[in-house]
Amino acid sequence: MRPPGDKSISHRVLMLAALARGTSEIRGILTGEDVKSTARVLRQLGADISAINEERVSVRPSRFSHPASRLNCGNSGTTARLMLGVLAGQTFSATLTGDASLRRRPMRRVTEPLKQMGAVIKEKGDGMPLTIRGGALRGLTYTSPIASAQVKSAILLAGLTGAARVTIREPYRSRDHTERLFAHLGLGIHEHDGVIRYQPSGVAVPAFTLSVPSDISSAAFLVGAAVLADSGELVIENAGVNPTRTGFIVVLERMGVGAHIERVNLRDEGGEPVADLVVRPASLTSTEVSAAEIPTLVDEVPVLAVLASRARGTTVFREVGELRVKESNRLELIAANLRAVGVNAEVQGNDLHVEGTAKPPRGKVETAKDHRLAMAFAVLGTVPGADVRLSERKSVAISYPNFFRDLKRCFA
Ligand code: S3P
Repeated sequence: MRPPGDKSISHRVLMLAALARGTSEIRGILTGEDVKSTARVLRQLGADISAINEERVSVRPSRFSHPASRLNCGNSGTTARLMLGVLAGQTFSATLTGDASLRRRPMRRVTEPLKQMGAVIKEKGDGMPLTIRGGALRGLTYTSPIASAQVKSAILLAGLTGAARVTIREPYRSRDHTERLFAHLGLGIHEHDGVIRYQPSGVAVPAFTLSVPSDISSAAFLVGAAVLADSGELVIENAGVNPTRTGFIVVLERMGVGAHIERVNLRDEGGEPVADLVVRPASLTSTEVSAAEIPTLVDEVPVLAVLASRARGTTVFREVGELRVKESNRLELIAANLRAVGVNAEVQGNDLHVEGTAKPPRGKVETAKDHRLAMAFAVLGTVPGADVRLSERKSVAISYPNFFRDLKRCFA
């Protein structure tokens, strides 16, 4: 299987290409709705971006200008938060909004540091719509209260567009795709002991050609299905194996005798490590997932919770409160949906507890149009004797348009 392009990298590559000095070419981009939201917003600002398809996307930048209408980020938190960083360095005003789910999600975590840099932001409460007017910015040294790649990336992009020096610390290391892409493009970034420093060089972003690896967060659902299967072997090609993203593999290997996931053909693609993965069925035992591990598997908690429901013993995920402000209240919905299919699961404070069972899962699951809930519970539905009915399936188009086709193919 070759899952679609990495969502986090696709957003970042589009944004940097739109800020570059010449025409860039991207191969293997994710064609999901979230990435289309980023492309749409960049086009509204003036970038010339060809149709979003996997083979090849070309991005011809032009000087950004005041958009004629609101910038609609759809369902995509990454679009909203990273674009706030991009806009912080522009001298015009722009209003950002999104769908009902995105409008409820917290934005102050990003607007606070950007205001400290000198961006003027008009907001009502902690969400969207909001209006930003940027310009030349002041430097910032910022210790983020949360380990969030979106916060970190917004500040770095503001540093780039507003020509300001920034230093960022975070409680735990979050995904580092922005740092890697900056480094790959020679943009004066350094990391030492978890402290990230960006110093504007005065040199423009060079045009580039880049291949986006397959999204390990999308691959995780297929990996989950393969681990739960009775027999067989699954090979996943071209997966991004950036260590800030592969926490679920670490946890899975800890849970299973035989849950070893082989990495073959390890290589580098645009500053990111890439490999093919070989996955086999395993019998699982519960584990404790620590707070420090969470940022490395934050999007994989739904599928890991589903795997925990098939493990011997009770698995605990520590400090997963952030899941309350994802595309849905993922924390409560994981627990409620596991209970709906006959699994003992509960939220205690900010921790999630899941008790494994051998009984086939049966019942109706409310996805709340959250793509990762839909895919995680579809994986649970592959267990022999299962009868898991999803409230909807369309949401998978956000990050993995062909998910159901691919899942079926794994068992063909
Ligand atoms: C992302 C960062 C994470 C992740 C999201 C994508 C990114 O969010 O959950 O799906 O591309 O930077 P946080 O930064 O809020 O942890």
